[in-house]
Amino acid sequence: MTLDINRSDLSVGVVGTGAMGRGIAQVTAQGGIKAVLYDAAAGGAAKAKAAILDTLKGLVAKGRLTDADLAKTEANLAVAETLADLKGCQVVVEAVFENLEVKQKLFGELEAVLPADSIIASNTSSIRIASIARALKHRERVCGMHYFNPVPLMKLVEVIRATDTAQWVVDAMVALGKRQTRVPVVVGDTPGFLVNLGGTAIGTEGLRIYQEGRASPSQIDAVMRDSCGFRMGPFELMDLTGIDVNFPARKIIYEGFFHDRRMTPSPYHESLFHAGKLGRKTGGGWYSYDAKGAKIDPGADHMPSVIPAASVVVMDTHNEKLVALVMASGAKALGADDGRSPILVAPIGKDCTTTAVERGLDPRRTVAVDLTGDTAKRLTIMTAPGADDLVRDSAAAILGRSGAKVTLIKDSPGFIAQRMCAMIANLGCEMAMIGIASAADVDTAMTLGLNYPRGPLALADWLGVKECHEILLQLQSITGDDRYRPSQWLRRRAMLGMSATTVE
Ligand SMILES: NC(=O)c1ccc[n+]([C@@H]2O[C@H](COP(=O)([O-])OP(=O)(O)OC[C@H]3O[C@@H](n4cnc5c(N)ncnc54)[C@H](O)[C@@H]3O)[C@@H](O)[C@H]2O)c1
Repeated sequence: MTLDINRSDLSVGVVGTGAMGRGIAQVTAQGGIKAVLYDAAAGGAAKAKAAILDTLKGLVAKGRLTDADLAKTEANLAVAETLADLKGCQVVVEAVFENLEVKQKLFGELEAVLPADSIIASNTSSIRIASIARALKHRERVCGMHYFNPVPLMKLVEVIRATDTAQWVVDAMVALGKRQTRVPVVVGDTPGFLVNLGGTAIGTEGLRIYQEGRASPSQIDAVMRDSCGFRMGPFELMDLTGIDVNFPARKIIYEGFFHDRRMTPSPYHESLFHAGKLGRKTGGGWYSYDAKGAKIDPGADHMPSVIPAASVVVMDTHNEKLVALVMASGAKALGADDGRSPILVAPIGKDCTTTAVERGLDPRRTVAVDLTGDTAKRLTIMTAPGADDLVRDSAAAILGRSGAKVTLIKDSPGFIAQRMCAMIANLGCEMAMIGIASAADVDTAMTLGLNYPRGPLALADWLGVKECHEILLQLQSITGDDRYRPSQWLRRRAMLGMSATTVE
């Protein structure tokens, strides 16, 4: 069986015309396809059509859309009074309440109305497509079509292939996504699909660092923004999306992967959920917000008020970034310990304690610096327990001379940036390995769906594939936690000196 998505008389039914259904209908109509809107609430579909037209008129007023485009789009929007009125549609996309029983019932009703060669797709964000399709006679024509909010602005759509979904259905929905000017990626029917699963890495690792008392939410967010180029750190993102949304989602994914420790949620996250501190919408979550809703940020910068050290011992002389930083600061870089100057090290994956003990350095004067990412903006430092604060601060003052802000955290394997990026990359590698999507689509989806500066596999390349693998091995060895086990996908490419994006 095939469905020619490019046929000029294609009709797409949109059932459920709330926030998502409206967006789906809009991109369908703007893509030159007839969109037939249906909602169970009386007048709901007509209201949605009016809202879409209002949005488009606003774009015309701003000169971003022509009157002719508006007229064409309007002509493509139709309202159905009953579900049976969708019988002429070749495709129906469902965007009703996120409830399995509601969706199963609706799919049964749609099957009775639609011809056997039409496609029924769900926009669910967390329900397994196979469980929605289960009661149908023709499960092969059911798939997921997971759009992102707000649909007209978010280019990505995940086409979800369930156990019984036929290839012609996947092909047709990819083609439909393209006609809707989306970027479709084909994804497995696994918990969280691709983007919501991939997105757990940044949140769970941020929470783990916080839970271990290594750094504050503000410090973790600042490092992710300044050093790693993320638009937002994990804690500000959790506050924005709402703890009532992201905590249950984390639990679903953790349960869905049968307690894989890579996806372990945090009891601290759960505490906020139970306390009803849901983020921006309740005026408090990980951060507090003032009366105008602005975030009150306790800050992430360490500003030592001591005289910078005149000389520092640079242990990692091969590290050009570290040597350049010290040279530019005007301090004398010593190649051997003089018994009193700060000792700078730049470990990969190890904490300061391990580094100092293994190398026989004085742990009171050893200062570990993370040189991951944009060192012109922010540098992260840490010391071993019992370190000399004055020595540490005199080293921090030297590093701060470059103009970079300095974040001081508690001793941690992999600091913040290495830990976070390695975990994001590792989960991306695992998703590619277990076939949730192709390696290229993992990167495309995470970039478009979450506004990441680069996809997880590209992030492994950015860190250095060998370094990324080493960070994880060290985290696994120092913490003893299986959570940090490197994906075999990453391991092989690190051993072979290849890009993480290399396909088999
Ligand atoms: N909001 C998001 O950010 C987002 C993102 C991706 C996917 N989703 C998924 O999209 C779906 C819809 O989410 P939303 O945010 O648009 O919800 P919404 O509450 O804004 O809209 C749901 C609409 O469905 C209608 N409806 C409910 N039962 C119906 C039925 N049996 N028949 C016809 N219409 C019915 C309601 O009247 C309502 O207008 C959910 O499955 C959700 O998980 C939401």
